[in-house]
Amino acid sequence: MTLYAAALENNIATMAAYCRDRGVELAPHGKTTLAPQLFRRQIAAGAWGISVATPDQIALCRSSGISRIFLANEFVDQDAIAWVISELADDRDFEFLCYVDSVEGVHLIADGLRAARTDRPFDVVIEVGYEGGRTGCRSAEAAREVAAAAAAVSGLRVIGVAGYEGGIGHELSDDVLRSVREYLGFVHSVGSELTAAGLVTDSGSGIILSAGGSIFFDEVVEAFSQDLLPGQRPRVLLRGGSYVSHDSGIYSRLSPFTRPGALPSYRLIPALRVWGQVLSCPEAGLALVNIGRRDTPFDEGMPIPEVARRGKDGPLRDVRACSVSQLNDQHAFVTVPGKMDLEVGDWVGFGISHPCTAFDKSHLLPVVDEDYHVIDFIRTYF
Ligand SMILES: Cc1ncc(COP(=O)(O)O)c(C=O)c1O
Repeated sequence: MTLYAAALENNIATMAAYCRDRGVELAPHGKTTLAPQLFRRQIAAGAWGISVATPDQIALCRSSGISRIFLANEFVDQDAIAWVISELADDRDFEFLCYVDSVEGVHLIADGLRAARTDRPFDVVIEVGYEGGRTGCRSAEAAREVAAAAAAVSGLRVIGVAGYEGGIGHELSDDVLRSVREYLGFVHSVGSELTAAGLVTDSGSGIILSAGGSIFFDEVVEAFSQDLLPGQRPRVLLRGGSYVSHDSGIYSRLSPFTRPGALPSYRLIPALRVWGQVLSCPEAGLALVNIGRRDTPFDEGMPIPEVARRGKDGPLRDVRACSVSQLNDQHAFVTVPGKMDLEVGDWVGFGISHPCTAFDKSHLLPVVDEDYHVIDFIRTYF
């Protein structure tokens, strides 16, 4: 699996420019790549910090010198909570926030704070979910109850409200768009309600509203552009992760920057390509290539044959007319239409669908330039 240097640079710069243009902030989701080298580049391009999903990902960020970390998940491990509290006490430059969606979750953090007797506040955002979805308060009443419990704990600050719309659907149908808009409107309304009730604190530059993967972030920006209360703009924190490599499948079809009718002036380029060689052509119209489920994502669509090359340095030819019908652990079944010729030994480059299940396939990704020379390596920590 290779990463294209120019595409990577383009994607990091494009998302940074979009956020700057819209006056919103970005905490790119680090779980997509678990590659601190990329985290640092995203931050250098203007990202506020890095979002993570698990305590070990917090540790990876801490040991990689990332000073602003958003655990966009519930935080219930008491040892990990105690460790974060001590890190906050020891390092005044370390900023941390996490979700909370239950009174029990508030109590777990409160226990940690009581035991530590620190003067650093511990920041949380109330997570708001939707019926049938993942974590998150299902009603404004539940959110109010959790926020009130948190506000009553000395040292605990509720600094905003968050959610995640990306699980609602992986298509742009009217139904999905309606549900996404309704949900984001609900997250915003909970933010307004908690602000009006005095249950959220402005931690510096506005009360936080956070949502946004790499598919509906334009909807998030639109929904969260309204004031929370008259004259009180929220501080919007997006969390896209997949944009960094983009892909040739689901995100190419759905990203606001590449889907049909995409936003002009922003462009994402697929940065990942998986290479394999034809092992056998045992039947007409079938080539077996030596990449499989160990090497490429397949949960959101099969890899997409894009280019092929004969020998070590033959010219690249377009093989987009081919397709993958099946993947075994180490084999791809490539359907080859009549006119295409793939021979044993040919190299085939596949685009991928779904970055989040791509980076975990490799510990070391070669970064290549336009001439396919390896110019760098990106280490991942899965
Ligand atoms: C809570 C949360 N935020 C943000 C993201 C990033 O979404 P994407 O992978 O579409 O960039 C995810 C991805 O699963 C997520 O679970």
